[in-house]
Amino acid sequence: MWQTGCLLLISLCIAGSFGAVRISPSMGTVTVAEGKSLQLNCTGEPNSVLTWKFGNTVLGTGGDLEIRGGVVAPNVDNVSILTHNNVGTDRSGEYRCIDNKTAAEATVIVRILKVATTDALFKYQEGATIACSADPDDAGDKVTYTWMKNGTNVSDIPTPSGQKFVEHENGTLEFKPVTTTREDAGVYECKMTVGTSEFSSTATLYAKPFVIPFDKSKNLVQEERLDVRCKVLGYPTPTITWFKDDVEIQADDEGSRYKLAEDNGHPNAQLKIDSVDFDDAGNYKCVASAEHIMFDEPDMSMPVPANASETILVRVKDKLAALWPFLGIVAEVVILCTIIFIYEKKRNKDAANEDAVNQDGATPEKSKEGVRHRGNTNNPRA
Ligand SMILES: *[C@@H]1O[C@H](CO)[C@@H](O)[C@H](O)[C@H]1NC(C)=O
Ligand SMILES: *[C@@H]1O[C@H](CO)[C@@H](O)[C@H](O)[C@H]1NC(C)=O
Ligand SMILES: *[C@@H]1O[C@H](CO)[C@@H](O)[C@H](O)[C@H]1NC(C)=O
Ligand SMILES: *[C@@H]1O[C@H](CO)[C@@H](O)[C@H](O)[C@H]1NC(C)=O
Ligand SMILES: *[C@@H]1O[C@H](CO)[C@@H](O)[C@H](O)[C@H]1NC(C)=O
Ligand SMILES: *[C@@H]1O[C@H](CO)[C@@H](O)[C@H](O)[C@H]1NC(C)=O
Ligand SMILES: *[C@@H]1O[C@H](CO)[C@@H](O)[C@H](O)[C@H]1NC(C)=O
Repeated sequence: MWQTGCLLLISLCIAGSFGAVRISPSMGTVTVAEGKSLQLNCTGEPNSVLTWKFGNTVLGTGGDLEIRGGVVAPNVDNVSILTHNNVGTDRSGEYRCIDNKTAAEATVIVRILKVATTDALFKYQEGATIACSADPDDAGDKVTYTWMKNGTNVSDIPTPSGQKFVEHENGTLEFKPVTTTREDAGVYECKMTVGTSEFSSTATLYAKPFVIPFDKSKNLVQEERLDVRCKVLGYPTPTITWFKDDVEIQADDEGSRYKLAEDNGHPNAQLKIDSVDFDDAGNYKCVASAEHIMFDEPDMSMPVPANASETILVRVKDKLAALWPFLGIVAEVVILCTIIFIYEKKRNKDAANEDAVNQDGATPEKSKEGVRHRGNTNNPRA
């Protein structure tokens, strides 16, 4: 996929920097990639009125062009700042800054250099190549390329398990299979140098959304906290949505018990419920989606939906659940004790009855005795 990100190359020639007008940057040639931002500062005398001209056109703020200070009176730092965002190739040419009071002027020459950039899509264990290519015919000189990611030279990015990047002279950055991971996806800046001027453009290694697998299920006890974190990878950074049993969770709703928080720099990556109840049991799904990008593969002509998800089954147990076995044992002990107690009591009662029988109603024995006594002539009661 060749994206014609062109490149605006501006050469500043301080042709007429007599008087007190100066334009910075003040190097002979300044290069800015098309689509990037051009900034020129013109410093003049205090309270002089500075006018910018592009060819014969007097420039003023409008569209992507902004001129700050200097038009009426450059009494803020004596400077007029011209900023042109998203510069097109038609903006190449001569820029002049004129001091109306002294007629002093400084001149800038703009040249256009086309740059093509190639983006790529990360595929697991496959290599990828992104590229920048400035048109050498327009540059006049040989262009040299170096690549940066987030301000770091790629040759300084550590790769623990072997070489990851190969920077080719023609402006391609090759990602080696195996050592390249989804985390390497992102925007890469290619810095180009031609002659004395440096300019830059960007190429992107895209990666489809991916959710790092998490536990398939989780058991919670009533009133415990639910805390699930969804770690997502991909570029552009996927947005995260949560579903409970396929119904989207709206944490912002009034009275919602769900709390969504940022985790690891990803908004909504953390789902919390402070105190779960039986109703909270269910399937929780984290969906990572790259909403605004269609990933086309294999030849970038067929749009492919780009969502990834992980689901966790949450079970909620009765908070007394853990107590039941204990209560069971207690109940058993109580019943056992009661039985023993009743039994013992009954036994004691029987024994007592027997004693009582032996004492007051001891007729049988007494009668026996009596009989015996009666049979005994010596019995005084007889
Ligand atoms: C122009 O001035 C602004 C504000 O002082 C400064 O941030 C910027 O670096 C200057 N740019 C150049 C090219 O000198
Ligand atoms: C503006 O120019 C005057 C005169 O050259 C100088 O004294 C003053 O410091 C300048 N102001 C700034 C902010 O550079
Ligand atoms: C400054 O000079 C330019 C070009 O000659 C002119 O168009 C502009 O009106 C002048 N501005 C002031 C404030 O004199
Ligand atoms: C980019 O670099 C800045 C400053 O060095 C750092 O704070 C930030 O975390 C980096 N971002 C990424 C995505 O690595
Ligand atoms: C990046 O590193 C390479 C190799 O060390 C070096 O040649 C190049 O100048 C560096 N580029 C930048 C922009 O620092
Ligand atoms: C750039 O150079 C590399 C290595 O020599 C080569 O494999 C690749 O095809 C080249 N790319 C272009 C766009 O010329
Ligand atoms: C991807 O997720 C978005 C947002 O949740 C949804 O609108 C879209 O239908 C999903 N696409 C697919 C293919 O699942």
